[in-house]
Amino acid sequence: METLTTSAKMKLAQDFLPINGTDYIELYVGNAKQSAHYYKTAFGFQSVAYAGPETGVRDTASYVLQQGKIRLVLTTPLKSSNPISEHIFKHGDGVKVLALWVDDATKAFEETTKRGAKVYMEPKTMTDAHGEVRMSGIYTYGETVHMFVERKNYNGIFLPGYEKWESEYNPADAGLLHVDHCVGNVGWNRMNPTVKWYEEVMGFANILSFDDKQINTEYSALMSKVMSNGNGYVKFPINEPAEGKKKSQIEEYLEFYEGEGVQHIAVATKDILKTVTELKARGVEFLSAPPNAYYEELNTRVGAIDEEVAAIQKLGILVDRDDEGYLLQIFTKPVEDRPTLFFEIIQRKGAQSFGAGNFKALFEAIEREQEKRGNL
Ligand code: FE2
Repeated sequence: METLTTSAKMKLAQDFLPINGTDYIELYVGNAKQSAHYYKTAFGFQSVAYAGPETGVRDTASYVLQQGKIRLVLTTPLKSSNPISEHIFKHGDGVKVLALWVDDATKAFEETTKRGAKVYMEPKTMTDAHGEVRMSGIYTYGETVHMFVERKNYNGIFLPGYEKWESEYNPADAGLLHVDHCVGNVGWNRMNPTVKWYEEVMGFANILSFDDKQINTEYSALMSKVMSNGNGYVKFPINEPAEGKKKSQIEEYLEFYEGEGVQHIAVATKDILKTVTELKARGVEFLSAPPNAYYEELNTRVGAIDEEVAAIQKLGILVDRDDEGYLLQIFTKPVEDRPTLFFEIIQRKGAQSFGAGNFKALFEAIEREQEKRGNL
């Protein structure tokens, strides 16, 4: 079986594309003003910056929100003639850009396009009174994009063109710290080409793999491979549906997103009990807790943990252990009407893996929801 730890496998990634972390995640949404209110009220994101008609942008409005190091950009088109309108018409609200913070956006572009990346945006410098930002972009799965952001010569609020967003409505944060990983769903037989793309074009390493024998329930199955850059700051697990008695949750996603795209964004906290209690009180909906047996068997499966099992069970938090420690995690329901994008809240206590021991409990919870929607 596995001889290297997950941390050791990250070091196998190549360094032609040094990445400092996630710069921002941009969602295309039908109504950015209302989405921004939701992410502030429910998740505790803070108002940071705005670009729109009031700042000289004629065709879109974008709201930038931040919590810890997690930066969300919510963009909406103002007219149907804007190409973003087509994206929303087809996919619904969803993630368009997974932006990566780099030291050299030109080099990132050259290194990836010469290895076969499809061009989204040629390197371009944007300037304002606060300096300059150089950006470039390439396509990944579906219509999703990786932007490379070089901001070493910039001290403005976000990007040139954005102004500080002063709001009188400022709900407290919920303890969310940084993006842990972002998962993509791809179509049938598309996982291996996508994994190869991350290896060859981005220099990432495949640090974990799960096949449909490990990830299955009575009804459905999926396959998953986790891709990581060398320092482990950026991790992109890739899921592909697998044949089962009923429809895979990945198939349901692909059907409703009408293509490949980001399935979930995992965000880290250092106190999951506190964060989840807070999020629930603010109206974030989570998947239902696994059956009592899951918690009765917890000690046997993962050994001793610092948290009280009763408190974890009350919130429906899942626990898993690997050879480096353990982790606690929980998944929200989709954050829009289409059963597409959702969030994961994760607290790592040493473990660098992804909760494989929870997959069955998690998928059974998702299937209960799928069944309610008539999509199982
Ligand atoms: Fe995850």
